[in-house]
Amino acid sequence: MAAEKKPMQTKNKVLIAGISLIIVAGIAVGVYFGVHKNSSSINRRCNGTPTTSAPPTSTTAVTPPDQKGTMINGTLFPYYNLTGEAPAPVGFLTPGTYSISYDDGPSEYTHELLDMLDKENLKVTFFVNGNNQGCIYDPKVQSVLKRAFESGHQIASHTWSHPQLPKLSVEGITTEMTRLEQAFQDILGVVPRYMRPPYGAGTFGPADTDAKVQTTLKNLGYVITTWDIATTDADIDDNNAVHKLSDEQLMKVEQGQVTSVVETGPKGATHMQLMHDTYMRTVRLMTPWTINYAKNLGYKLVPVATCLGDEDPRTWYSRIGPPSPNPPTTCTK
Ligand SMILES: *[C@@H]1O[C@H](CO)[C@@H](O)[C@H](O)[C@H]1NC(C)=O
Ligand SMILES: *[C@@H]1O[C@H](CO)[C@@H](O)[C@H](O)[C@H]1NC(C)=O
Ligand SMILES: [Zn+2]
Repeated sequence: MAAEKKPMQTKNKVLIAGISLIIVAGIAVGVYFGVHKNSSSINRRCNGTPTTSAPPTSTTAVTPPDQKGTMINGTLFPYYNLTGEAPAPVGFLTPGTYSISYDDGPSEYTHELLDMLDKENLKVTFFVNGNNQGCIYDPKVQSVLKRAFESGHQIASHTWSHPQLPKLSVEGITTEMTRLEQAFQDILGVVPRYMRPPYGAGTFGPADTDAKVQTTLKNLGYVITTWDIATTDADIDDNNAVHKLSDEQLMKVEQGQVTSVVETGPKGATHMQLMHDTYMRTVRLMTPWTINYAKNLGYKLVPVATCLGDEDPRTWYSRIGPPSPNPPTTCTK
């Protein structure tokens, strides 16, 4: 089923690793030399200028902080003590920041990841699907998603069913986003402003299909984010029997990709690293390694939005309201 798996299935792991390295290096070089795609709404790494589409207007009904956090418009932001007006989303370079983000989840490994992040006192970004590896309305998935939100992690959209967006019509793209918006509203009470297109599709390809994707997403109020470091944890899939490399060997490949991007960039740059919380190896091996690696280089680990200058969690969401008292428990309709 659909992980962040490119349609690349060869038995030659070295070739996969090589190709991936070239792709990643290509992206990194493109970013480094300021080669930007045709839209300023695409943030390949943290120092782009994000589109500040439809900033949330004034904050409504903010109650003073107490031990429980801040109640905003009926949704409790338990981790944050937020006072005053929400600032307009900005989007300036935040040098020296490094965001780690997880796509395609939540999964059976996400609680374990949250435990680890709690211990490190780190906040990350989750780009969540509605119905990909599992159904977002599954009570177990609802509960881990709530835990992630309530721990102060940024929740962002990765579409309802993980399609190639350029292949869809404007209506199809819209449904992919709004169906997931409804689920987020039901479960958390918020609608994310940030999204990442599955496979990055709509940010690489022919200009005409890209324009359709990007215009539709922008009209829906989304900031489109991509990455500059792909760890290929999904390309070299640990659940795929074709691949016989050990976890340690796979880790070496992924670490090589991280270090090659970071080392070719300027020191103290900003980075967005893409991973998937749907793989055990990513959670248990790659995550702690990445945290140590980035910290040792002096980077500050933050969510994607903070990397882009949006530090106030109220700016991470376009709508804030009370969650549904009785959300559905299945994805069938
Ligand atoms: C929020 O404020 C309360 C009361 O001052 C404090 O006990 C709590 O630790 C604060 N929470 C955070 C996440 O800063
Ligand atoms: C708060 O709720 C009201 C009423 O539903 C809505 O109009 C407003 O936009 C909400 N505020 C935010 C910040 O989402
Ligand atoms: Zn994905």
